[in-house]
Amino acid sequence: MSAFDEYVASFGSGGGYLNWAAFGPISPAVRAESLWALEQLSQAEPAAHAPVFARAAQATDTIAEILGAASGEVVLQGSSTHGLAQALYGLSGTAIASTAEFPSVSLTLERAAQASNGALSPRWITPAGGFVTTDAVAEALSDDVTAVAVSHVDFRTGFRVDLDALRELIGPDRLLIVDAVQSFGVVDVDWSAADVVAGHGYKWLRAGRGTGFARYSEQARTRIRPVLSGIAGTTSNGLFLDELPSPAASARAFTVSQPDHLAAVRLAAGASEIRDAGVAAIETRIAEHVDRIIALADEHGIPVASPRERERRAGIVSLVPDDTDGLSAALTDAGVAATARGGAVRVAAHAGTDAATIELFGEALAAF
Ligand SMILES: Cc1ncc(COP(=O)(O)O)c(C=O)c1O
Repeated sequence: MSAFDEYVASFGSGGGYLNWAAFGPISPAVRAESLWALEQLSQAEPAAHAPVFARAAQATDTIAEILGAASGEVVLQGSSTHGLAQALYGLSGTAIASTAEFPSVSLTLERAAQASNGALSPRWITPAGGFVTTDAVAEALSDDVTAVAVSHVDFRTGFRVDLDALRELIGPDRLLIVDAVQSFGVVDVDWSAADVVAGHGYKWLRAGRGTGFARYSEQARTRIRPVLSGIAGTTSNGLFLDELPSPAASARAFTVSQPDHLAAVRLAAGASEIRDAGVAAIETRIAEHVDRIIALADEHGIPVASPRERERRAGIVSLVPDDTDGLSAALTDAGVAATARGGAVRVAAHAGTDAATIELFGEALAAF
């Protein structure tokens, strides 16, 4: 069996689960590693703790490998919002963001501006369909813009931003801050276009909460000031006494305290699984499922608000029938898990979604 086939097999039978954009049920490997780590940390024996503590570095290294970044540019965070806050609170000038962003971007930017004593202003854009296209950003661009904050894949519509085109538009000097929650591990992209990439492991990585992480490029590490650096984020390698060291030059500057080791164990396991299976293969399999989901929606006359081209979407399909409640009820009755919110029903398949789940989805659409 290939590593990819093993990965797909690890999902077992999906039983109608199409809610990966909300929460990814924990994988067998992550579960096993968690149980192991709990046993290790239950022992009154430092030698038993050490291999668990070492998983934090392993998680960081694996995330860095997937991002194509140096390990020193990546740090673990409590959540993706923590990673974004580390960046947004250190901005000055004008930052462009969409009003339709997940609040981890929009609300955090607003709060950062309120805390900045006038140094930072958001420039809100409301692009058509909530799609943050390069053209929509271009229209809002002016000399005072210092940063653009955007979700790589929009949590509502599934629209995938073209990071290379955005970078080309804004040039090398502005910061590109990217929320990668709905794409990391399932979209094979060159992340180097972004200065900050924040994500987490509790959806597509199947690793549970507490598994945030973020990458800060050299430009981000130089420009983001002040940093919300805490006791783990200084130039000192251990605990410092009777001094107040400066923030670290590495991404460690964007950490507050030591990582949650049990969360790091889960993230290390979840990230290793996708690294071994191959992000490109995962992306292709998800794209096939999404093709089928869109085809079923078309067949049953249900409008789709998500882009249809593979390169403009990832795992999310937004269905916008007149009767959202009716569709949501039909899915629930059929045993299909999805998210109904704001006049849309969001379905999200993963690489391990089985044919029976897609079939169940089709039956629910027929019943609706
Ligand atoms: C695009 C996006 N960003 C951020 C988050 C929140 O992430 P966290 O809980 O890690 O802060 C979500 C959660 O659904 C999301 O969809």
